[in-house]
Amino acid sequence: MGEKRDKIPGPKALRVINTMKKHAYDSTFMYSLVISHGHNCIIEDIDGNKYLDFTSNIGACPLGYSHPDIIETLAQYSSNGTYKIAGQDFYCQEHADLAEDISKILPSGFKTFFINSGAEAVENAIKIAYRKKGPLPGISCIGAFHGRTLGALSFTASRPVHKYNFPEFPSKRIKFCTRDDDPEIDAIEDLLKENKIAFIMTEIIQGEGGYNVASKKFVSNLRKFATRYGVPLILDEVQSGIGHTGKWWAFEHYNIRPDIMTSAKALQIGATAFDKKYEPATRSALSSTWGGGNRIDMAVGSKVIQVIKRDKLLENATKMGNMLRKGLSEMIGKKGIVDVRGLGLMIGVEFDTAHHRDKKLSDLFKHGLLTLGAGQKSMRIIPPLIITKEQIHQGLDIMHQVLMRN
Ligand SMILES: Cc1ncc(COP(=O)(O)O)c(C=O)c1O
Repeated sequence: MGEKRDKIPGPKALRVINTMKKHAYDSTFMYSLVISHGHNCIIEDIDGNKYLDFTSNIGACPLGYSHPDIIETLAQYSSNGTYKIAGQDFYCQEHADLAEDISKILPSGFKTFFINSGAEAVENAIKIAYRKKGPLPGISCIGAFHGRTLGALSFTASRPVHKYNFPEFPSKRIKFCTRDDDPEIDAIEDLLKENKIAFIMTEIIQGEGGYNVASKKFVSNLRKFATRYGVPLILDEVQSGIGHTGKWWAFEHYNIRPDIMTSAKALQIGATAFDKKYEPATRSALSSTWGGGNRIDMAVGSKVIQVIKRDKLLENATKMGNMLRKGLSEMIGKKGIVDVRGLGLMIGVEFDTAHHRDKKLSDLFKHGLLTLGAGQKSMRIIPPLIITKEQIHQGLDIMHQVLMRN
């Protein structure tokens, strides 16, 4: 790692990529990386090339790879063929365990509904709000990403390619304010005064939108006016939740609580959590064959929560994140780096142009450091929570080498 590799993709990777190009939809693949396996914060490709992973697969692998506790959990299922069940029709131990484990880190009085993905967690959050308020417009933020299913997509507003030619649910947009002195910081009040609204939904750190961190006043305004006008506040923690910001949930940095919230990625499955006062009054209002039906994912999700607690990984995320942000901040104003921002181990680095950002991401990849793009011209960094001081320094060395040259 750190050395430039000229022979990427290797022959095995090329075969996989060519098969994919021929038979599968060419979606958002970013690098010619064909993952084989991983250890700790290192991912190895199918040809044996190693990468220091500063993405944790967009937060889905908070304990890195081949973590002994996860391997042990997986081993328990190696001879249990009943690993997928109709999880809203039949009970299982894993469902109860995960519901109990997550309830210990949720705001008090919350209940959970499990589902496949982040987008479905958002869909169900929206459904819970509509149940209470009726089919009124929902408010989301410019630059928001809430998933790609059609309901969630109506409130996603990050890239036009996600929405072209699709019908939309009624919605209204506000600016996602990152500064307390933003002139639009109070816009939410006028919207709520003048319209009947089903919900307000936002991320605390816009993920796909560029790792933009909400201002304190913006978030406290959303909370204050949502309460005043009786509109549920939905916080989307699909990317930021389960520890990446150094707290279980990003909203904890703001001393507020949502009415309804989502989780996924690091949790291994999607979850819609809600204050009991928003629980649908009728049974069957929420369901799905695989809602709470993937026993392995639920068992791993429980283990993720337990290991983060036991190994004090929230503290590690705060410490390592501060170290990384400090190192990166020294590059601001040099070689087209215009901003470094974030909370804990969710860090955005903004470049002067999209072209420059894309070139540097590709160079970092060739030097063995995995990062991803976000927003118009930012790089997103979200390493596993187990990352060590040595790995942070190793990553920073590669960044210096690649970003600080022309
Ligand atoms: C904040 C947020 N919400 C929702 C989603 C959608 O999650 P999924 O891709 O699991 O459907 C994402 C995915 O990146 C996300 O970052």
